[in-house]
Amino acid sequence: MKFSLKCMVLAAALALVLVNLTGCGEGTNTPSTQLTASSVSSSSAINPVSSHSHSVAIPFSDLGGTRTVSYRTSVTSGHSHVIALSAGQLSDLYKGYRVLVTSSTSYPATDSHTHLFEIQGGQLVYESICYNCHSNDKRGVSQMNSSQPPLQSQKNALQSPSTQPLSSAESVTPIFTYGTTAQTLALATTTLTGAVTGTFYSQTLTPYATGGTLPYTWSITGSYPAWLTLSAGGLISGTPTATDTGNQTVTVKVTDSANPAATATNNFILVVTASAPVIDGAALYITNCERCHGVLASSSKRGRSAAQITSAIGSVGSMSGISLTSAQIQAIATALQ
Ligand code: HEC
Ligand code: HEC
Repeated sequence: MKFSLKCMVLAAALALVLVNLTGCGEGTNTPSTQLTASSVSSSSAINPVSSHSHSVAIPFSDLGGTRTVSYRTSVTSGHSHVIALSAGQLSDLYKGYRVLVTSSTSYPATDSHTHLFEIQGGQLVYESICYNCHSNDKRGVSQMNSSQPPLQSQKNALQSPSTQPLSSAESVTPIFTYGTTAQTLALATTTLTGAVTGTFYSQTLTPYATGGTLPYTWSITGSYPAWLTLSAGGLISGTPTATDTGNQTVTVKVTDSANPAATATNNFILVVTASAPVIDGAALYITNCERCHGVLASSSKRGRSAAQITSAIGSVGSMSGISLTSAQIQAIATALQ
């Protein structure tokens, strides 16, 4: 009976996403099958992995709490976190209380971020006492008999693990290096900020790589748009031309500084849109205004603003036939400055 992380049920709350702890598996109704751990997940919207979560295993033997215990979470996109629970918090989890812990990682340096983990004691109580006989069938229902589990708070927690009191026990600061796991170099696939034709574009790709050993070296592999270059430091730049519009795929490779070096390759999508057409104010003046106000250079309307022109079109009878967009009027006003 393997505990499957795929079965985690996610629920959003607060600015960070708290994740309900929900065990999964097909029950065998044989008490001999022992679950050894339970999990909790966290999630947050953090660049470069727009939304990611971690799970962490808490052995039932730690419930009850006699000492501070650290756990390292699962690895997501090349990094993991450490959470630490005090004896008081583990004791409260045993009672069915909820515990909130935060954990930060500065790894990689470009993506330091914090997760908020919610651990629901009631879920752990269910998994440690009821799961082996009932799989998930009796989650959220009242306990089978009054002796199991022993505490009233646990009975309450079995029925509603997510609404139990929050532990007020002291928290402990996790030690980042606890149970260090190798952080696999990874490169997230991403749609980059769009580029506009005729406009210089630059964006650093560094935040999209995680794990491995800094510094990274970047290179473009495969075909890529001719207007674009990628520096070894991860800066993508160039000026797309009018023929470069559309979705462009840039296949990028990142190499870390480990020996031997690790590499990761992924595609970035870069959408190039056409720049707004340039409006020629001087030409519009010739077509629309010159015959009454003279050539542009010596126009009697030099220095007029777009608002003044708009108002004249609305009020001067001989100008009433003029039909221009506000962008065109602005271009004429600019030409008249
Ligand atoms: C040693 C095995 C075992 C354990 C442990 C166990 N149960 Fe049961 N439970 C049973 C059996 C067998 C029944 C009777 C058949 C059935 O209803 O599935 C039962 C019945 C129930 C029922 C009544 C069925 C109903 O709908 O009236 C509930 C509710 C229940 N269990 C909840 C729990 C909870 C909650 C826990 C954990 C605190 C738990 N059980 C622990 C074996 C177990
Ligand atoms: C058919 C002739 C005619 C055309 C074409 C015309 N105007 Fe005029 N415009 C006038 C007349 C007549 C007035 C009122 C007298 C004056 O102020 O020169 C006027 C007034 C104005 C005024 C307000 C008075 C002032 O000096 O601030 C502005 C501004 C102006 N025109 C700008 C323009 C611009 C810009 C165009 C081209 C988009 C244009 N006009 C096209 C005839 C014309």
